[in-house]
Amino acid sequence: MQHPKHSTASAPGKVILCGEHAVVYGQPAIAVPLNRVRAQATVDAADKGGIVWYAPDLGETWRLGDLPDHPLAQLTGATLARIGVATDVALRITVRSDIPIAGGMGSGAALGAALVRALAAFFDQVLGPADVAALVYESERAYHGTPSGIDNTVVSYEQPVWFVRGTDGAPPTIEPVEVRPPVALIIGDTGVRAPTYVTVGGVRERWQRDRQHYNALFEQIGAVALAVRGVLRDGQIEQLGTLLNQNQALLETIGVSSPELEHLIGVARRVGALGAKLSGGGGGGVMLALVTADTAEQVQAALGAAGAAHVLHTTVSMHTNEHP
Ligand code: MEV
Repeated sequence: MQHPKHSTASAPGKVILCGEHAVVYGQPAIAVPLNRVRAQATVDAADKGGIVWYAPDLGETWRLGDLPDHPLAQLTGATLARIGVATDVALRITVRSDIPIAGGMGSGAALGAALVRALAAFFDQVLGPADVAALVYESERAYHGTPSGIDNTVVSYEQPVWFVRGTDGAPPTIEPVEVRPPVALIIGDTGVRAPTYVTVGGVRERWQRDRQHYNALFEQIGAVALAVRGVLRDGQIEQLGTLLNQNQALLETIGVSSPELEHLIGVARRVGALGAKLSGGGGGGVMLALVTADTAEQVQAALGAAGAAHVLHTTVSMHTNEHP
């Protein structure tokens, strides 16, 4: 069947506000979308048979026969199966992203969510956030081992989420997070690329050597996430800063921080951030700092001067994540 048309869709990057790593072991975590950096997928009908993927930013083009195991090829196949379309269609799929790869901002999950949405739209189907998240989760699982599912969830729902992974195959708990009033964050990218599966694998090795100690640390991180949810709801901004700092101390203890992250975190705190921590897999990637209207500019400038590769200002609010 020929589809003489075109569809396009996008999905945001994300940051984990609190609870990363412990969330893999069943503790709660909170993640927020980052609308300023997005991944985009475009699907066009092609003249010849087969599916061609094109990534202009990377200067790469490939066909199904070239790289059948490529994550985007696998996800395309799974999405077409989900919407009941045979894979012998002729399509040209273009993917673009301004989310730094392996930077802790959910680049892979966002690209996946954009691709699933664009494919569904091309075939006049609508997949809800839970369906999009489930497809992207399977794709992430194939390539990243044991993801908790929080990244694919937040980029598919595009709102701040409270996330607890399900045990024994049960679905996760996904709830919206009340944020009153909105909270301002500055995100600083160390520029050090650290794939999440590497830091997640390192934590797993250490956990296997000393489960009791690590389970206790994960529980403390979970308790911080619970407290963060409460202070976001009640607008207790000072307490939020203290909790983010406590979360950072626990992340240092489980061994996922780095000198570059701690440098940016220290700078942000010294120039007035109420709290700061690494965000995501750690080992590099990004940190975030909690700021007010009075401190946002100085923290942003100080992180840039301290060598951050990218600095973003974002506002976390209840339904969406707006940018000034
Ligand atoms: C990565 O954004 C968050 C981690 O907790 C891994 C995961 O939840 O899959 C480090």
